[in-house]
Amino acid sequence: MTRLLRTNAFRLAALYLALFAASVLALLAFIYFSTADFIERQTETTIDAEITGLREEYADRGLAGLLEIIHSRSTTPHGGSALYLITDPALQPIAGNLNAWPRARQIRPGWISFPVDIKTRDGPVSSTAIASVFVLHDGFRLLVGRDLRDASAFRGRITRTLAWAALLTVALGVAGGLFMTRHMLRRVEAVNRTSERIIRGDLTQRVPLTGSGDEFDQLAGNLNAMLDRIERLMLGMRQVADNIAHDLRTPLSRLRARLEVTLLERPDAARYGEALRETIAEADHLLATFNALLSIAEAEAGSRRETMAVVDLAEVARSVAELYEPVADDKGLALAVEIDPGIAVHGDRHLLSQAIANLLDNALKYAPDGRVTLRARRLVGMARIEVADSGPGVPADRREAVFDRFVRLESSRSTPGNGLGLSLVRAVARLHGGDAWLEDNEPGLRALFTLPLADSRALPATRNAA
Ligand SMILES: Nc1ncnc2c1ncn2[C@@H]1O[C@H](COP(=O)(O)OP(=O)(O)O)[C@@H](O)[C@H]1O
Ligand SMILES: [Mg+2]
Repeated sequence: MTRLLRTNAFRLAALYLALFAASVLALLAFIYFSTADFIERQTETTIDAEITGLREEYADRGLAGLLEIIHSRSTTPHGGSALYLITDPALQPIAGNLNAWPRARQIRPGWISFPVDIKTRDGPVSSTAIASVFVLHDGFRLLVGRDLRDASAFRGRITRTLAWAALLTVALGVAGGLFMTRHMLRRVEAVNRTSERIIRGDLTQRVPLTGSGDEFDQLAGNLNAMLDRIERLMLGMRQVADNIAHDLRTPLSRLRARLEVTLLERPDAARYGEALRETIAEADHLLATFNALLSIAEAEAGSRRETMAVVDLAEVARSVAELYEPVADDKGLALAVEIDPGIAVHGDRHLLSQAIANLLDNALKYAPDGRVTLRARRLVGMARIEVADSGPGVPADRREAVFDRFVRLESSRSTPGNGLGLSLVRAVARLHGGDAWLEDNEPGLRALFTLPLADSRALPATRNAA
């Protein structure tokens, strides 16, 4: 409860309640005063009208006629609240239902107010009356008034009604405020609980969504997306760490052992030279593996996504093919290139050319002879890179496994490589929102990767023309 009171939501609700209650009270007060005032004015108008009538009677029929009317009006019980009095110049009552000139005070010019005792069925009741006085000839006076019993009863009823209304407003406001605050707190609480669990180390936790699509759902969705990304980054880091621990330790130990053995052999200068050359080759291999691992981790983490731009995949493919032309020549392989003009994709030029290079490298490395074809196609909504060879291929049941890090076919042990090439191809394809896979080329292997096309109008004009 104290936490509830400390929350922003509650403070806001309380503020709104205060404003709301104040405006309701102001409205009620306005109603109260204008109604009460209206009743009094109404009474005064009635009295005025009656005096005007009586004045006319007096002009027509004189004092005697007036006395007669007053007498009859004073005794009829119908106007229970009407008060009359006619006095002589010495203020002695002559007619009317008041038995003495009242001890009145003036409330406005022509209007007086005084206390009266009214006879009712339940005995006398004291009340207040207002009256107007009309001075006749010869100092006689006529007083016409009304007691305000009904008006004050009405006023009392309005007061009670208003008090209840005010109470109800506050009660409803407090209940609504508490309800809303509790509701908001529950949602915030869910976020807090999840974050606490994550802080304690459970990165798989996610903030629950209600499916309403409100701002809390949006917040939760964003938090979850953020957590997904963090988890992916952590996973990538852990994998790199694992790879370094397991897959780089072996070659490093082997390197060290070889150096040790060479040293124990008490070698001559020629042997030293040979050992150093071997060591350098091994170190190069290690460095290549390191770089490949880092590239994969980088692609999987998606940290390069910010620097992506629209690039022409056709042009990237062409320049990679040029690079591998001499390698194909050396091996006596024919490298065919089929490239659609102007393939706009949103991507990272360096990673894309590395991926294409890895596929070409594999084809030229594992196919003993024949023809290697590099295709870059612009299809509906996506671009596709394809490298086909007529070599030994990869058995169907191993076509997924070779995408894992460090996985190489048994038959490839004698060829240089680290088993990271295809892993990078897939990581790059997925980074760009596409995928990579292998197919049978009958005979040989067809390696493919796709990625979504970008708007070709975003391509630099010179490349478009090429
Ligand atoms: N074009 C290909 N023809 C035959 N086998 C291939 C081809 N490409 C890849 N492979 C097999 O898949 C394995 C994984 O390839 P890759 O990840 O590029 O690693 P690496 O080339 O360093 O061995 C290779 O070792 C090889 O056995
Ligand atoms: Mg390779």
